[in-house]
Amino acid sequence: MTEKENIYILAIESSCDDTSVAVLQNDTVLSNVVASQKIHKEYGGVVPELASRAHQQNIVPVTNQALARANIDKKQLSAIAFTRGPGLMGSLLVGTSFAKSLSLALNIPLIEVNHMQAHILAHFIKDESMAMPTFPFLALTISGGHTQIVEVNDYFDMRIIGQTLDDAVGEAFDKSAKILGLPYPGGPLIDKHALNGDPTRFEFPKPKVKDLDFSFSGLKTSILYFIQKQTAKHPDFINENLEDICASIQATIINILMDKLKKAVKQTGIKNIAIGGGVSANSGIRSALKEAENKFGWTTYIPKFEFCTDNAGMIGIVGYHKYKSGQFTDQGITAKARYSLTS
Ligand code: KG4
Ligand code: ZN
Repeated sequence: MTEKENIYILAIESSCDDTSVAVLQNDTVLSNVVASQKIHKEYGGVVPELASRAHQQNIVPVTNQALARANIDKKQLSAIAFTRGPGLMGSLLVGTSFAKSLSLALNIPLIEVNHMQAHILAHFIKDESMAMPTFPFLALTISGGHTQIVEVNDYFDMRIIGQTLDDAVGEAFDKSAKILGLPYPGGPLIDKHALNGDPTRFEFPKPKVKDLDFSFSGLKTSILYFIQKQTAKHPDFINENLEDICASIQATIINILMDKLKKAVKQTGIKNIAIGGGVSANSGIRSALKEAENKFGWTTYIPKFEFCTDNAGMIGIVGYHKYKSGQFTDQGITAKARYSLTS
């Protein structure tokens, strides 16, 4: 391969409830199609059995759409990249099997991708309007399934320095929202109601977790007890105080995240902070990071929202860097529901 030759990667993501396929030309995303599965809304959370069925229905049309939008023919593809894990086994199996078949049929290399690495390397998707982080940096990945702080020294040299011991931060938002009677996923709704609320009105205890780890399950319980106690006295308590309750919950969660980030900066001496995952859409975390830029001299990076939530573009960028360094896999590969980014 000469330097000038273009690399075209078709990337597949199916770890949870989004079926996504992207086509990349080198580090540029030409198309990134995401089919979100609405079905789970009725159940108040992701139902694994329904998720894998929906992936099976979606994967072929989503792939065709991604190729069409990119205006790329299958024959032009250099390799197939796919999410091997972590995630829901039934969901991962659909993407893994499909990727293996496609690579076999087209006789092109196969590249396995760790979903958590992909959330971090999403920052290296080319975007004229945004700078890419420089190594080393700290990555905070916050979503409905993950909460991690990772020290990133190079594309494939990462070290987890903190993570949740129970619920993910997105779950903390969603479960709190459920207690308040808000529909799933409630994170964006808490954010919306928090906008006009008083974040100091109610106080919720912050968990005491050592080092850089997190715990969110206790917060959910204390919110539940608080709401039960108040509604027993005033049945309309939630309605009358929704904005202040949401603002107070959000402030508590953001404080927990920022405290750990500050600790991580202190421990590592690294002031480049990159965040990813669906919760990075939260206006509270965004303004806390902006404030930290001015106050502590941090440099912060937030990718476009389309690359923050689960998407195949981020799988493709890992595929591109693995392609360049010759990291391919064979047809014997299997999906891995538990898959650490350092394994
Ligand atoms: O990355 P993502 O789309 O999927 C995974 O969970 O992997 O993240 C979804 C999570 C949900 O928990 C959702 O409530 C949360 O991100 N979320 C938010 C906001 N937007 C999405 N949480 C708080 N504030 C938001 N604005
Ligand atoms: Zn994810």
